[in-house]
Amino acid sequence: MAELKILTKHRGEVDTHTLKHYQSVGGYKAAKKALSSMEPEIIVDEVKKSGLRGRGGAGFPTGMKWSFIDRKNPKPKYLVCNGDEGEPGTFKDRVLLEQLPHQMIEGMIIAAKAIDAHKAFIYIRGEYHLSIDRVQSAIDEAYAAGILGKSCMGSGYELDMVVYQGAGAYICGEETALINSLEGRRGHPRLKPPFPAVAGLYGCPTVVNNVETFSAVPHIINNGSEWYAKMGTPKSTGTRLFSVSGPVKKPGVYEIELGTPLLTLINELCGGMQDGKKLRGIIPGGSSVPILTAKECESANMDFESMMEHKTMLGSGAVIVLAEDTDIVETTFRLAEFYAHESCGQCTPCREGTHWVASLLHKIRDGHGTHKDLDLLLSLTLNMEGGTTICPLADACVGAVRPTITKFRPEFEQRLTDGK
Ligand SMILES: Cc1cc2nc3c(=O)[nH]c(=O)nc-3n(C[C@H](O)[C@H](O)[C@H](O)COP(=O)(O)O)c2cc1C
Repeated sequence: MAELKILTKHRGEVDTHTLKHYQSVGGYKAAKKALSSMEPEIIVDEVKKSGLRGRGGAGFPTGMKWSFIDRKNPKPKYLVCNGDEGEPGTFKDRVLLEQLPHQMIEGMIIAAKAIDAHKAFIYIRGEYHLSIDRVQSAIDEAYAAGILGKSCMGSGYELDMVVYQGAGAYICGEETALINSLEGRRGHPRLKPPFPAVAGLYGCPTVVNNVETFSAVPHIINNGSEWYAKMGTPKSTGTRLFSVSGPVKKPGVYEIELGTPLLTLINELCGGMQDGKKLRGIIPGGSSVPILTAKECESANMDFESMMEHKTMLGSGAVIVLAEDTDIVETTFRLAEFYAHESCGQCTPCREGTHWVASLLHKIRDGHGTHKDLDLLLSLTLNMEGGTTICPLADACVGAVRPTITKFRPEFEQRLTDGK
């Protein structure tokens, strides 16, 4: 079993981040086609038919998201690329930003035309210095070559693109917090509705998509929606990049066809477990999604439907592998601490809940917990989820904690009795 490299086909070649390389492998042909011969609704339709779903976390259908923009609205429309990549375990956008920035820019040009946006922003995680430099250089090259600017590729379509450096808050990856942050405000999520498609950046219609989502678009326009939809499964089309971390022989970023069995990714592409260790469980889509036990991993495929059947999600494409010697209690405590630290504090169930979860797990981790603490912990997570908050950060904390306690309860109970 090999990777199916569509977005990452040229990764590893020399200077893939440059315009020269990108054009030498057919780059910007799709943008040229979209700008010169495709009406916006045709572009939207093509992306809809491809079945492309957002790669940032929620898996929302991309074409449908673009179709929510009322192009007749006299207000400016904005396009935003989400490169905040803050979900623990996720490092796949970094590969696209550092090594293939023109591919993402091309996808954004096509999306801009589809929604009638003339200003686009790329919000990049503050710590990603090389990504920021590479994307800025790619934009500079695109302006110099007339690909961006007053008349993109001589089409008469005007588009400006700006890079914005994030300031290091996980919550700024949530699209409305990101919009606030772009406006120079505190990165607090906004109440929805109104959704960004109606009132987003500066109160104007806005589309926010993930780096990988945009990067898939040129391939759809070049090869057609049917070609794209043939890959993957009926409801999870195409390929996806997964960042695999943990004690496997070859951790890293792999592009595979959606629907590939999880254990094929681990055993064949990542070379299996290090030092003959036994698999304990896998968090398949970033720290916020429920963990799968080793047994559950046997029947799980890397697609939206299979993950739903297993009561978890593909999330941000971060596959975190845990081995038999992983301290599950410690891991759960650390994740809970992360959410407590990153809660923006607007909503009580999240601000208080995440801190209570972390402090109870701290007590249990240190061997001072009681059965009552474990029950309290589980019951308190029930008050943190299901729409009690503005954004899903509290749900993310619950996703990282409750299923782990439920599935690995004996280890938590052992910690209560013997402190180890
Ligand atoms: C707490 C939180 C953090 C998020 N972080 C990211 C992120 O770093 N990158 C990203 O693309 N989406 C992130 N999202 C999802 C975005 O809100 C949004 O759904 C996504 O950018 C839409 O793009 P897509 O449709 O292409 O997936 C986050 C969501 C939440 C609730």
